[in-house]
Amino acid sequence: MKLAILLSGRGSNFVAIHEAIARGELDAEIVCVISNRPDAPGIERARALGLPAHIVDHRSFASRAAHEAEVLRILGQAKPDFIVLAGYMRLLSPDFVAAYPMRIVNIHPSLLPSFPGVDAQAQAVAYGVKVSGCTVHFVDENLDAGPIIVQRTVPLRDDDDASTLAARILDEEHVAYVEALKKLASGTYRVDGRSVVFDS
Ligand code: GRF
Repeated sequence: MKLAILLSGRGSNFVAIHEAIARGELDAEIVCVISNRPDAPGIERARALGLPAHIVDHRSFASRAAHEAEVLRILGQAKPDFIVLAGYMRLLSPDFVAAYPMRIVNIHPSLLPSFPGVDAQAQAVAYGVKVSGCTVHFVDENLDAGPIIVQRTVPLRDDDDASTLAARILDEEHVAYVEALKKLASGTYRVDGRSVVFDS
């Protein structure tokens, strides 16, 4: 299974995926890592690991379409089976999503459909929920809305703030992303409406 990673920042999910591959837990290959931010620590890490690393700075392009065209050009050469969004802070256009239907995956730090969008952990704390978590899902044309592949729960503590909750959710994200990609690598699933159904 060939993976392309798109990121904008820290890249801890990317590193968790890379480490799972390195220890033989996930049968996959990272064929490219693309960052829209030149200063993303994640792209530095990709370079240090010797992975094909590309900076496609969205500020250098006149339009969203032009930026996406360059990302799509790189993906077209790398030929990934799946595009893995790992903290990629750009909305994908419907045309981009349509180029890779049910082949783009994202991770979100809440139990969707609760708390989509930015600051999901702060939203969960402000709402007073007792359980939150993370969701790995296919990307469709709507924000944080595609069919769900894996979710993992994280209980809230009374003294949690957004930052303590985010840290505990992040630990679960690293497990969830690897678990989801292992399921996709197995190939034994189908997408039936909103449901991703795995053969047992
Ligand atoms: C994670 O919390 C992820 O759920 C969200 O962005 C963050 C990325 O973290 N989409 P990292 O860059 O993988 O460390």
